[in-house]
Amino acid sequence: RGDPRLQAISEAIRVVPHFPKPGIMFQDITTLLLDPKAFKDTVDIFVDRYRDMGISVVAGVEARGFMFGPSIALAIGAKFVPLRKPRKLPGEVISEAYVLEYGTDCLEMHVGAVQPGERSLIIDDLVATGGTLSAAIRLLGTTQA
Ligand code: PRP
Repeated sequence: RGDPRLQAISEAIRVVPHFPKPGIMFQDITTLLLDPKAFKDTVDIFVDRYRDMGISVVAGVEARGFMFGPSIALAIGAKFVPLRKPRKLPGEVISEAYVLEYGTDCLEMHVGAVQPGERSLIIDDLVATGGTLSAAIRLLGTTQA
């Protein structure tokens, strides 16, 4: 808010009505990725906001958190931890289920990727119901026990 870069970023995100089903206004960030200035400005805004906060973990939510998270992690000197959909990670995982409009889904993280006491930043492209973000927060919270 008040940042002159935000309008161009907003305009670079394509809104696709009724995708993937009727009534959904899909916020398509692939068009933002096609605009190098808007893409860089997006990453820079996060980097400026979260650098020097003692964050050592950037956790990206599959799939679109993978498109922004690693750039932010490198710039703030943090590690990148993918939070993946079920049965994608090869090692031992911890899982957190969350409710979808129909049924449930799950996010998984490798055991040992995050140590107790580490401070994490969760990156995704958007929040709708908040179910995905809540599961990501619970997943990272399990590392603090
Ligand atoms: C989208 C989006 C968020 C989530 C937000 O992912 O990228 O991760 O939905 O919705 P919520 O706040 O209601 O949980 P999607 O489920 O489409 O998965 P994908 O990125 O793997 O396609």
